[in-house]
Amino acid sequence: MTINAETLTKRNEQVDVLRFTTAGSVDDGKSTLIGRLLHDSKSIFEDHLESLGRDSRKLGREVMDLALLTDGLKSEREQGITIDVAYRYFATPKRRFIIADTPGHEQYTRNMATGASTANLAIILIDARNGVLTQSKRHGFIASLLNIPHMIVAVNKMDLVDFSPARFEEICNEYSQFAARLGVQDILYIPISALDGDNVVNPSRRMDWYTGPTLLSHLENVYIEADRNLVDFRFPVQYVNRPNLDFRGYCGTVASGVVRPGEEIMVLPSRKTSRVKSIVTAEGNQEYAFCPRAVTITLEDEIDISRGDMLVHPNNLPYVGSQVEAMLVWMSDTPMTPKKTYRIKHSTNLVRGQFVNLRYRVDPNELHRQDAEELGLNEIGRVELNLMRPIMFDEYKRNRQTGCFIVIDPVTNVTVGAGMVINRSMKRGGSAPGASASPVSKNITRHTGAITSRDRASLLGSAPRTFWLTGLSGSGKSTVAYELERELFSAGRACYVLDGDNVRHGLNRDLGFRPEDRTENIRRVAEVARLFNEAGMTVITAFISPYQTDREMARTIIGSERFTEVHLATPLEICEQRDPKGLYARARKGEIPNFSGISAPYEEPANPEFRFDTSAMDVDEIVQRLTQSLE
Ligand code: ADX
Repeated sequence: MTINAETLTKRNEQVDVLRFTTAGSVDDGKSTLIGRLLHDSKSIFEDHLESLGRDSRKLGREVMDLALLTDGLKSEREQGITIDVAYRYFATPKRRFIIADTPGHEQYTRNMATGASTANLAIILIDARNGVLTQSKRHGFIASLLNIPHMIVAVNKMDLVDFSPARFEEICNEYSQFAARLGVQDILYIPISALDGDNVVNPSRRMDWYTGPTLLSHLENVYIEADRNLVDFRFPVQYVNRPNLDFRGYCGTVASGVVRPGEEIMVLPSRKTSRVKSIVTAEGNQEYAFCPRAVTITLEDEIDISRGDMLVHPNNLPYVGSQVEAMLVWMSDTPMTPKKTYRIKHSTNLVRGQFVNLRYRVDPNELHRQDAEELGLNEIGRVELNLMRPIMFDEYKRNRQTGCFIVIDPVTNVTVGAGMVINRSMKRGGSAPGASASPVSKNITRHTGAITSRDRASLLGSAPRTFWLTGLSGSGKSTVAYELERELFSAGRACYVLDGDNVRHGLNRDLGFRPEDRTENIRRVAEVARLFNEAGMTVITAFISPYQTDREMARTIIGSERFTEVHLATPLEICEQRDPKGLYARARKGEIPNFSGISAPYEEPANPEFRFDTSAMDVDEIVQRLTQSLE
């Protein structure tokens, strides 16, 4: 059975919940409006309960559903993150509602950003007397940034402008001009008086010129079933349930997409694959599960999976990486400063990270970009984030669950920011940045000669290969590389070592250790290795090459049939003890910025052809194993 929005609606499973957030400036009447909504609809709810009371089975379900609602919120509380947002819920016969109520007049950005990340709809309140203020625009901007699919602009206090249609229209025009630039798809303007109840629940008799729906009627009917992502299956593992030796289940909430028993899945970051054996819930085993259902998944094979891993479909993968570009909403009095280390909470992961670059700040009023050194309270900017460990993520636009993160101050443990991923860092590009790029000049043509690479290989007597050694500084790359070279050379194979420290004295002397420098370092070396391979030579490279995407790029450039990735997985502590060049000691003192393993990430290869720990294994043995792979 295929699952689409229609089936969901028919089955009526959890989709009849609308989450919305309200935002307004001081005295716009937000609390009055919420009070009015709760008050006027409470009676509906009680009626509803009465009629339900006749059907005890139905009532049982109702009670259960309410528990479900509060359960969803519990996970936010469980994370130990203090979010200054009060949730309220109410229901009508048509739908259940969760309001992320944002108390307090200050720090509205903070409230809005944290309360709104799962919202279907945002209500922006505008006082009819004051018209469109900077804050009304800021709220709209944040709502669009958070990709809240639906927006209501409630023009309040219409009674104080004599219910004037002209005034209403004036405000609508001004706001629509602004909103057009935000790209919000669904936006409805409603003239109301929250105090008197006009157009909140009941249609206003005093504004018969307005023919649209009342606020509640729109909340009840706005079509939200298609808003969720049912395409990309993402299941962040919250914890592993192992009550006895016979059962091992992975618990979590389906962040997006659909999963069924029998389907092939991949575990990230290890990239191991298996099949779904069963989907277990308190109501028994399920034929499928989709977002936002909390389930326990069991697999056909025993795989090592832990909290923070993610189950996905192998043909639909998220990004895996430690560098992301994001829009960041700052929520703390202490400004965001680039280079400071924060804790980043992303789905079920907690990782240390730094904002290495604040590209610009956005002026929410005019939507202009401004140069800035830091982000202050309620300010919004575009940042580059470097994480100490790779995470599995999507663009926020595509996936609100796996595309957002929260920033926590490591000292105070307070949430200080919320981020929306734009993409992986632009400078580092797609899966093989630079691998398939065309020359800058359009006036370049390729030439070929009569000698093929096969001819060359047969002259030299062996098929060329590239051994790509990756690992931390001090992990033994150069040692293994030169030993392997000696061994291969004496066995009659033409080979050559490309070593990071050497290449950086010549070809790459213009490059430092910023992420983009490293990417360019690896790109050039991969191109050189490819040329050597073309010429018939076997290449052994010794580069830290800390980024997964860069190594993928090297594999693409060189060709995966010739490429052998060798991870020297010597633990950081040992590399640091060895410290052959004294660089770790200096990095610890803060003298060397961006030092891999200390202040810059090293992304472990997920699936290398070989993995050796040089502190546990002889170099000779490693060389033997690699040599044998050529036979
Ligand atoms: S890579 O990251 O771009 O692949 P590469 O292997 O070329 O690095 O260079 C690493 C060598 O440069 C290390 O072995 C170390 O001697 C030296 N080095 C100097 N600064 C740094 C740094 N910030 N991070 C890592 N290595 C550094």
